[in-house]
Amino acid sequence: MPQEVRGVIAKSKGAPVTVETIIVPDPGPSEAVVAIQACGVCHTDLHYREGGINNEFPFLLGHEAAGLVETVGEGVTDIKPGDFVILNWRAVCGTCRSCMKGKPQYCFDTHNATQKMTLTDGTELSPALGIGAFCDKTLVAAGQCTKVDPAAKPEVAGLLGCGVMAGLGAAMNTGQVSRGDSVAVFGCGGVGDAALEGARLAGAGTIIAVDIDDQKLEWAKGFGATHTINSADEDPVEKIREYTGGNGADVTIEAVGRPETYEQAFYARDLAGTVVLVGVPNPDMKIELPFIELFGRGGALKSSWYGDCLPSRDFPMLINLYLQGRLNLEGFVSETIEIDAVEDAFHKMEQGEVLRSVVMM
Ligand code: APR
Ligand code: ZN
Ligand code: ZN
Repeated sequence: MPQEVRGVIAKSKGAPVTVETIIVPDPGPSEAVVAIQACGVCHTDLHYREGGINNEFPFLLGHEAAGLVETVGEGVTDIKPGDFVILNWRAVCGTCRSCMKGKPQYCFDTHNATQKMTLTDGTELSPALGIGAFCDKTLVAAGQCTKVDPAAKPEVAGLLGCGVMAGLGAAMNTGQVSRGDSVAVFGCGGVGDAALEGARLAGAGTIIAVDIDDQKLEWAKGFGATHTINSADEDPVEKIREYTGGNGADVTIEAVGRPETYEQAFYARDLAGTVVLVGVPNPDMKIELPFIELFGRGGALKSSWYGDCLPSRDFPMLINLYLQGRLNLEGFVSETIEIDAVEDAFHKMEQGEVLRSVVMM
């Protein structure tokens, strides 16, 4: 039987979000209904509300979530009711040209639920990133559920579903940070701090945090930063060279999404090093670099979508390291809030007061 539950809805461009009754259908073939326990508030949710992603209002927001599988549809064998899962937006297809090349982390045909959740008047909802998890229960493709150790707290585990995974993976997967490397991260929000933490976990030696906010730089130290630079006061490129024997860092990671910080990341990198872009630019931004520098400095300029993660490989492994006390995931949870406080949490996020507010169901 379809169920009526609470959900956080963005009805129209710029309008404050509201808690509405939504209808969640029973899972069809290859689908699952998940009872959400916790869901983090991410910038992407705010971008949806502002109409910055597309115009398919109303949106059911929320996508950094963990919960318990309630029911599964026909043909679902990987998960069963009661399993503790993290939701992901990369349910790989296994058959596209990238999956066939053995690179499922770049899958071009990821799965979402086929059926629609609706408002009580029948209006179809667009779930944020194909998830929609600021709600008591949500309908997803079964492949969007990754089973992890239930010993992990839901408010912590759920964060791997998006921003924190993006940052960890930018360092570990895309940047391929390895033992002894020097790493510089530009922007120390949730994503940048996760990149610092990923660099630490990968064995980086020198880990440099760059931000324009002293509070953020203070927090960055809790995620492995060995040096901090306030780039509003000092030239970060010069300082990074100073901290790396005059050479620049082996891997630089841009976690803001702005041309000026990308340029800093480009010049703060050692010859033959790697620049990783994980911050998301606006469509109207442009970047200009001397062409000869692109050639002359060698190395790699890479973009990192969702930290190039493969949820089935990365989520259980990272939860395991967290449970062993080797990965600081708890530090990302600035506060836990009720479902009706998402709009408030957007304001705190805009003010830079939090890394992540997490809605508890
Ligand atoms: N130089 C350095 N740091 C900056 C600058 C700048 N010019 N401008 C902003 N910052 C810092 C902010 O002070 C903040 O600490 O960048 C950080 C951005 O963090 P958040 O706003 O919390 O964003 P976060 O969730 O970490 O996401 C960062 O990654 O996934 C993308 O869409 C996301 O583009 C965004 C980026
Ligand atoms: Zn695929
Ligand atoms: Zn997100």
